Amino acid sequence: MNDKEVLWRDIMPLEWNQEKYTTGFTAIDEQHYQLFDGLNSLLVFLKDSSNIEQPEEQEKAMELINFLGEYAVNHFRDEEELFEKSQHPMKDINKEEHQRFVAKYLEYKNKLTAGTITRGTLIQLHIFLQSWLVKHISKIDTSLRECVVQEAAESDFTKKQSVFARFLSLFQKKQLAA
Ligand SMILES: [Fe+2]
Ligand SMILES: [Fe+2]
Repeated sequence: MNDKEVLWRDIMPLEWNQEKYTTGFTAIDEQHYQLFDGLNSLLVFLKDSSNIEQPEEQEKAMELINFLGEYAVNHFRDEEELFEKSQHPMKDINKEEHQRFVAKYLEYKNKLTAGTITRGTLIQLHIFLQSWLVKHISKIDTSLRECVVQEAAESDFTKKQSVFARFLSLFQKKQLAA
């Protein structure tokens, strides 16, 4: 079985599943969606490319790899800020996992830029990126949902408090007027 057949058989494109992947923060969900999209583009490229050794194909491959790395780094920065702001108990684990991801990504990228980009290394990179992303989002990033619930409860509490404060001040005014 050749590489192409393995690809069609074993690697499925990522599909967005709201229930499984949503963090409750629209901007973060949108960034995750873009990363899924980038990975799917890399998969389509791998499936369609007939001669990866050609300069145009090498260039296209590098474009896709660069997009994924740069987008991921920007996304990590935004997400870490959010974890930090909410003093989330998993903020350090999230950050450490991001750092491990970047180190592994750079390892692959160095391998790919050191010589000709090969289909085999690209497939390995795709498998790593896809499995890391799915696992990380569903285990760590989705824990942000608790913050959304907490934030909603807190703002509800603040609203209730302000209603109570208004009521109290009205009551005090009435008492003064009496
Ligand atoms: Fe994360
Ligand atoms: Fe994330």
